[in-house]
Amino acid sequence: MDEYKKLTNEVGAPVADNENSITAGPRGPVVMQDVWLLEKMAHFNREVIPERRMHAKGWGAYGKLTVTHDISQYTKAKVLQLGTVTEAFTRFSTVAGERGAADCERDIRGVATKFYTEEGNWDLVGNNTPTFFIRDVHNFADLNRAVKRDPRTGRRSAQNNWDFWTLLPESFHQRTIVMSDRGIPASFRNMHFYGEHTFSLYNAKNERVWCKFHFKTQQGIKNLSNEEAAKINGMDREYHGKDLYEAIERKDFPKWTMYIQVMTEDQAKNHYENPFDITKIWPQGEFPLIEVGVYELNRNPENYFAEVEQAAFTPAHVVPGIGFSPDRFLQGRLFAYGDAQRYRLGVNHNHIPVNRAKVEVNEYHRDGAMRVDGNYGSTPAYTPNSYGYWTAQPEVTEPPLDLEGAMYRYDPKDDPTDDNFRAGGNLWRLMTEDKKQILIDNTVADIAPATVNIKYRHAVHCYLADHEYGERFAKAAGLCMDKVKELSKLDHSQLVQATLSETM
Ligand code: HEM
Repeated sequence: MDEYKKLTNEVGAPVADNENSITAGPRGPVVMQDVWLLEKMAHFNREVIPERRMHAKGWGAYGKLTVTHDISQYTKAKVLQLGTVTEAFTRFSTVAGERGAADCERDIRGVATKFYTEEGNWDLVGNNTPTFFIRDVHNFADLNRAVKRDPRTGRRSAQNNWDFWTLLPESFHQRTIVMSDRGIPASFRNMHFYGEHTFSLYNAKNERVWCKFHFKTQQGIKNLSNEEAAKINGMDREYHGKDLYEAIERKDFPKWTMYIQVMTEDQAKNHYENPFDITKIWPQGEFPLIEVGVYELNRNPENYFAEVEQAAFTPAHVVPGIGFSPDRFLQGRLFAYGDAQRYRLGVNHNHIPVNRAKVEVNEYHRDGAMRVDGNYGSTPAYTPNSYGYWTAQPEVTEPPLDLEGAMYRYDPKDDPTDDNFRAGGNLWRLMTEDKKQILIDNTVADIAPATVNIKYRHAVHCYLADHEYGERFAKAAGLCMDKVKELSKLDHSQLVQATLSETM
């Protein structure tokens, strides 16, 4: 038998038998000294790690970003310089479902990409929608509790979901997108994805602009109807994972064109709404897409657990030339991901090959569970030191940012420029008749189990976005249009008060 086929225990000693336990007599009990059996069972019992709190179900692939256009006037990031090709890894996911959930659920899709740049890893942790449900990090845990399982029944609950969404009018645009035909993509290959937040770029002269990242599918947008998705989910829960894997295996590599939108600091100061509010978009007519390059996925992982399950992305990972913004939601995310991963994977998770940078890493972090490299051997463990080890690089300091205003808990609803219905209304008006009908039908089906007061709240939001949208939803949901019109005259807190009773 070939050497490599020999079974060993976890420290390399040969194993004599992997099927028959050692027993006291041919019909007797197992004895403790079957240590290989103990090792096998003990390892098996520990093979499950915590799943991601959200985005638990996902699929990944490796690829490359090729920059085809010169955007050096905006950024000095090497990964974004003309001609640069950078290896990357992307994980696609659904949000609400657990690790065993079916792929074709109505949900947003996460798209997290790790670019292994020559200046360290840059992670862009986005979704397939240009906006989001909420805009304050305080609401995030609650959003997930509302869309995940009900504490009493253990089941998903349309009531909880729609109650929460309709109490936060800023979720209206995202509600419209998720209920539209785009709420169930036909495959990961057939959808766009976005960084969503406002980020910053700064160039070699340290001049800053605000920016949004867009990736447009070159395969064309394709979606599934509720009926198609229900059928697929009944037959193949891993439909999107299979599609991605098989396309890459047959060398039909999916591609996206990468763009940025850019806003100057002056434009941001004078913009008609908060450009750092993730629930707002920057209209492409006002802030045109600027082409950057092509992103291609071209290699499947060798091992799902090692590479996909253990992948760890965080918006906190940026490289010189790319930065954050005052977006309060983004600021919250900068803490959340690393914290979750220290719990989910351990403090040394960035040493796992899929997460490891391709460049030399010198960060003085030492020790910790599962430190499996040389732990920096005998190099100094402290800084400053007199040995010239690993000094900071002030030349990558970001340009300073002027901020203004007193420290306070500001509620964006008190901001007179805040319009939660503009973007959703514009989207409705852009839709063709058949897309409008699909949106209405999907919404009515999804909200059906919720109580009538919640339906009225949503109808009012639709009506405020566009009268036709409100009227068509109200009619399809069997609501009284006069009541919708009356309720639409109320401000948000009055609307909440007027729609508290489930039997209104
Ligand atoms: C304050 C708001 C948010 C918080 C606190 C938050 C937190 C988290 C956490 C803790 C995870 C699990 C991380 C892990 O275990 O590895 C996660 C996953 C993820 N989040 Fe968020 N999130 C927020 C908003 C968003 C937004 C706005 C987007 C999209 C722009 C997004 C996209 C993702 C994606 C794609 C994943 C899965 C990453 C993967 O594939 O490993 N999240 N989020």
